[in-house]
Amino acid sequence: MSHKIVRKRQLGENVFWAQVEAPLIAQARKPGQFIILSIDNDYSERIPLTIAGADPAQGVIELIWQRVGKTTAELANMNEGDAIANVSGPLGMPTHIENFGTVVCVGGGIGGAPLLPIATALKEVGNKVLTILGFRSKDLLILEEEFAAISDELIVTTDDGSYGRKALVTEPLKEICQRDPKPDKAFVIGPTIMMKFCCETTRPFEVPTEVSLNTIMIDGTGMCGGCRVEVGGRPKFVCVDGPEFDGHEVNFDLMMKRMTAYKHQETTAYDDYRKHECRIGLDE
Ligand code: FAD
Ligand code: FES
Ligand code: MG
Repeated sequence: MSHKIVRKRQLGENVFWAQVEAPLIAQARKPGQFIILSIDNDYSERIPLTIAGADPAQGVIELIWQRVGKTTAELANMNEGDAIANVSGPLGMPTHIENFGTVVCVGGGIGGAPLLPIATALKEVGNKVLTILGFRSKDLLILEEEFAAISDELIVTTDDGSYGRKALVTEPLKEICQRDPKPDKAFVIGPTIMMKFCCETTRPFEVPTEVSLNTIMIDGTGMCGGCRVEVGGRPKFVCVDGPEFDGHEVNFDLMMKRMTAYKHQETTAYDDYRKHECRIGLDE
């Protein structure tokens, strides 16, 4: 069964949003879960994307993705009415949602997309939600209005000061941890290095910190080992044991090393794809 792109928008220079037909996934999905898609057929690359939202009545799921390489660029070049060959899911363990009290939600860049359904669900069960969103610069800002609608407090930071507060997310995170009372729980999603430093920020305050890991994935069923990480000194598979883990237990240095394993192939594939893109319309 193929999956039609029902609606598609560009949210920023390299960020895209789409509603995709996937009725069974739309009904079953829970916050924190993801899908794995392959664009053309069973042999094209499989990439994981978080289910950013869903409308079970319309049978659609929402995806938000950043164009970083070949497959996310191919997806960005698809139009409303086009179909994605395979969408598998919902995958992964749902986020554990309960009324913790005060939660601080930290999103870095495109990490805001997977964070939104989690923050929304935390708010719905009565948590006080403090959100920090960090971006490199203003042109990469996404989902500010959506987070403002569900947050008791929203802090936006940019690395270059072009919007909001000029700071890394760890600065306001530390200030929030220093408050009395301190937050009861933190949820952090973003680039691996950012999650590592957020965990180092919350650790001395003993604020339990959930992170959502974005390792390389292939099958998504716990069989291939591509997504293996070390948590609390033990091997875990992000696709079936995660994607969320206790950030204070994650070996981020090992994870970052494993994520560069295919850098050469990824760069070559994207370079070749861009050469092809540039020839569109020139061949006649
Ligand atoms: P490439 O040039 O092939 O790779 C760029 C970088 O993306 C790599 O260096 C590597 O770090 C990562 N990557 C490459 N291949 C894979 C793969 N098969 N699986 C995972 N990571 C890979 N991105 C979003 O923009 N939005 C999301 O909602 C989102 N949710 C994710 C949820 C999970 C559970 C995981 C594990 C990742 C998620 N990602 C998300 C990351 C997304 O999967 C990668 O950006 C994408 O696979 C890159 O593919 P590419 O071919 O365009 O880039
Ligand atoms: Fe293969 Fe997780 S993606 S084991
Ligand atoms: Mg790729």
